[in-house]
Amino acid sequence: MRKGKIAEMKAVFWTAVVAGLLFAGFGASNSALAAFKVGAKKCQECHTAEAKVWEGTKHFKSYKAIHKDKRAKKIVKAVGDKRMKKSKTCALCHYTAAQKDAGAKVKLVSGPSCESCHGAASDWISMHNDYGKGVKRDGESADHKAARIKNAIAAGMVRPERLFDVAANCMSCHGLANPKLDAKAAAAMLDNEHPLNPDFELVKYSQGSVRHRFYPPDVTVNKEMTAAEKSQMYVIGQAAALVSATMAASKSDHPKYKAAQDKRIANAKAALDLIKGQVPEAAALLSDPTPANGRALGEAVKGKDLSGAVGGKLPKDYK
Ligand code: HEC
Ligand code: HEC
Ligand code: HEC
Ligand code: HEC
Repeated sequence: MRKGKIAEMKAVFWTAVVAGLLFAGFGASNSALAAFKVGAKKCQECHTAEAKVWEGTKHFKSYKAIHKDKRAKKIVKAVGDKRMKKSKTCALCHYTAAQKDAGAKVKLVSGPSCESCHGAASDWISMHNDYGKGVKRDGESADHKAARIKNAIAAGMVRPERLFDVAANCMSCHGLANPKLDAKAAAAMLDNEHPLNPDFELVKYSQGSVRHRFYPPDVTVNKEMTAAEKSQMYVIGQAAALVSATMAASKSDHPKYKAAQDKRIANAKAALDLIKGQVPEAAALLSDPTPANGRALGEAVKGKDLSGAVGGKLPKDYK
């Protein structure tokens, strides 16, 4: 092989490595290293109703505002960065860093968006809605559908019916629990008034401005949850909080951080205690708070009405 050719190949190789590392720095919450975010504009092409809801949320509106906030400027300095939009620490939770395609430059395109909750989409976007060549939704076989969903999940899609995993993404940001956030940065943020609300509760935070439930048969209606559905979501949110806070608690000894994670754990335990007699998976999660046990609880509560046990804990109003 020509020398020039080898050098060229090496250059290509290193460009790919560096792009991979840069991406890892910005971080998708839970997908493979090679997967990247494509940005909400892509999703909007088909999911117009969901995108419209998102545009009314703080997640969307924050993008134009938060870096100008006085507290933000102080917090950025405290972690050793100059500007919020240039800070990899802030980008972990405040921004969506997307790419046009593999190897393209990583750019901040919005605040938290579709893929912050549903997973970086590069590897699943074209398969998650693919019913097969020439086949429409109604004509898809059950086997094809099952394989499509399974493959999309394997490629990093966080689907709504796997609500524990969606909730785990909320907790990663709202519990300051992202594993890529280092302990020193977390401490500096909290010393400079960065909020950490240990009472973040999934029903309260997801059924107000964030709610998008345009499920068939009438996909034009953003449906409210029934009391039974809220009770399931409440339990799943507490399960995700317990797993998240347990993992985060060992990150840092900073008193504020510790106290907040301990409060999250105490809240979640109190909630899960209410159903552990009724749902054995809750007892299993309480004694061993792992993601696998959280997911199992998420499956176990499907279709159940737990409002007798947790109805009194459901929020009266929403964020
Ligand atoms: C080309 C059109 C198209 C694009 C682009 C697209 N989707 Fe979809 N999406 C669909 C269709 C159609 C379905 C329904 C699939 C089915 O019938 O199971 C769907 C299903 C979903 C679901 C599961 C809904 C449910 O009922 O369980 C989620 C979540 C989702 N899309 C998110 C996204 C996100 C996030 C993006 C952008 C990264 C995106 N989609 C881009 C067409 C699209
Ligand atoms: C691990 C996730 C995470 C990281 C990293 C993070 N934030 Fe936040 N930040 C949040 C969340 C979640 C909220 C909203 C908290 C709430 O409303 O309870 C928030 C809120 C804020 C607020 C208050 C906004 C308001 O409307 O009241 C400021 C200011 C802020 N962050 C600045 C920063 C800066 C600057 C950085 C980078 C140094 C940063 N954050 C890093 C998750 C994070
Ligand atoms: C803050 C996290 C979050 C963001 C941001 C988010 N979603 Fe969702 N999404 C959820 C949750 C939670 C559900 C489950 C709702 C339910 O079943 O109650 C869901 C459900 C869905 C569904 C199925 C319900 C429906 O409306 O058809 C689709 C499709 C979907 N999301 C697409 C999107 C798209 C597209 C975007 C961006 C424009 C987006 N989501 C942004 C959390 C989020
Ligand atoms: C990628 C990180 C991230 C994820 C994932 C995330 N959020 Fe957020 N969320 C934020 C940040 C950052 C803010 C604060 C923005 C600001 O104040 O400017 C916020 C603000 C909010 C607010 C507005 C709160 C208020 O007091 O006005 C709600 C509601 C909310 N998030 C709900 C959710 C729910 C529910 C989920 C999961 C289904 C979720 N978020 C997932 C980062 C995230």
